[in-house]
Amino acid sequence: MTNIDKDRSSQKANKDHVVIFDTTLRDGEQSPGATMTHEEKLEIAELLDDMGVDIIEAGFPIASEGDFRAVTEIAQRSKHSRICGLARAKLGDIDRCWEAVKHAEKNRIHTFIGTSELHRAIPNLTMDEMADIIHETVSHARNLCENVQWSPMDATRTEWDYLCRVVEIAIKAGASTINIPDTVGYTAPVESADLIRRLIETVPGADEVIFATHCHNDLGMATANSLAAVAGGARQIECTINGLGERAGNTALEEVVMALKVRNDIMPWHTGIDTRKIMHLSRRVATVSGFNVQFNKAIVGKNAFAHESGIHQDGMLKNKETFEIMRPEDVGLSGTSLPLGKHSGRAALRDKLQNLGFEVGDNQLKDIFVRFKELADRKKEVFDDDIVALMRTGEDAENDHLKLVTLRVACGTGGPAEATLVMDIAGTQSTAIERGDGPVDATFKAIRQLHPNAAHLGLYQVHAVTEGTDAQATVSVRLEEDGNIATGQSADTDTVVASAKAYIHALNRLIVRRGKMGEGADAREISYKDVT
Ligand code: KIV
Ligand code: ZN
Repeated sequence: MTNIDKDRSSQKANKDHVVIFDTTLRDGEQSPGATMTHEEKLEIAELLDDMGVDIIEAGFPIASEGDFRAVTEIAQRSKHSRICGLARAKLGDIDRCWEAVKHAEKNRIHTFIGTSELHRAIPNLTMDEMADIIHETVSHARNLCENVQWSPMDATRTEWDYLCRVVEIAIKAGASTINIPDTVGYTAPVESADLIRRLIETVPGADEVIFATHCHNDLGMATANSLAAVAGGARQIECTINGLGERAGNTALEEVVMALKVRNDIMPWHTGIDTRKIMHLSRRVATVSGFNVQFNKAIVGKNAFAHESGIHQDGMLKNKETFEIMRPEDVGLSGTSLPLGKHSGRAALRDKLQNLGFEVGDNQLKDIFVRFKELADRKKEVFDDDIVALMRTGEDAENDHLKLVTLRVACGTGGPAEATLVMDIAGTQSTAIERGDGPVDATFKAIRQLHPNAAHLGLYQVHAVTEGTDAQATVSVRLEEDGNIATGQSADTDTVVASAKAYIHALNRLIVRRGKMGEGADAREISYKDVT
């Protein structure tokens, strides 16, 4: 039996195992602008499962038809991971959650309620009233599902006596995992360890359940707080890829997993994660969420393994350990990254894609190869990051309602920029000429002339993929319209062309979402903060 085949969420037998509970698809996806399509959620869930994540929190089934559908399908397809859904402390939420997760061989209902004074005030419940609700809802969940997790939201700001009381009620009602969320990222490592330790020492029945830690990163301490909680006795860390999540995000999966691996001498706990799959997942989550990873982000940032200064390079050449505490290969970066060029063939491209974690079929390879050749004609050396950027573009192109045909922009000093843009709209080509405050403004106006829309531009972000003036730019565009959010991305050696394509990509996604809304699907009807 391989590691992955074991029931990775029943850990009582193994006190050194830390359960990795990934909530990229729930807490991460909930972050404004990070909305993913149904297919993207399925893909990320499959990659998480394959990487060895013990539990995947796949969504919040009562929140929308889209969430329900995603959790259901992820539950149906899961291979190794336990599939969990979130539910407020309401019987209807819990029933809906069970309807979705019941399809998984291993499932979990995660129900929660805000227990701090501030959170109790929202539904205006007394301590006793809330205690009764906790007993009723956890018991209800336990009657449906044998694996129930309960969370006192804002636990780190909940009165100590009350926290002990409600944790005891949840355990007695049948919860087998008690999650202690630091909902607003307020705690600090010493306190985080102490809180879990004291709960385990104080609450009757605590040694029969697993304690989990769920930290937010508002003060930049989420990773430290999660690891401290493990030192205090927690055996489940809740986290997201790239630390995706509301505000400053959640604990980053890659950080806690690599910290436990690299510093196992002082943190003697292990996870079942295949760390070599981290980089690919990080890139895919960045792509589908539209949230780029900061260059100096620990583990997965572009510069995390780059050694630029002379002293560092000299040390690295003599002995890698001088400045490297982990090997790039351990997180899925190929140690040597030889660039491709215009003479590289299909086999070299396929090999490179495989090294980068992309499995492509023959048809997809054909399409990528054409775009690779176009890029190689314009750029002497095509680096790994260029290939990753290439994989971000051209998705869904065949079905797209809007397509960029040509774009010419005249700009410079002494006058407005002028864009002449030809767009294919459902098979018919039209031309628009617009002037604007710079080339991007003129281009976006031309697109709006041909496809009038009231979508608000929530984000426009440009990143250079590699160095040099011929570097590709990746552009992210986020559009918001009637509560729908769509992110478009593109890459090109011409920043204005990349901008036009990213804007059109976002519009195409909005069109798809509008269609689904028409069928009553995917509207974000409620928030997890509506706790009454
Ligand atoms: O941050 C939080 O408290 C949550 C709960 C729903 C567990 O995400
Ligand atoms: Zn959270």
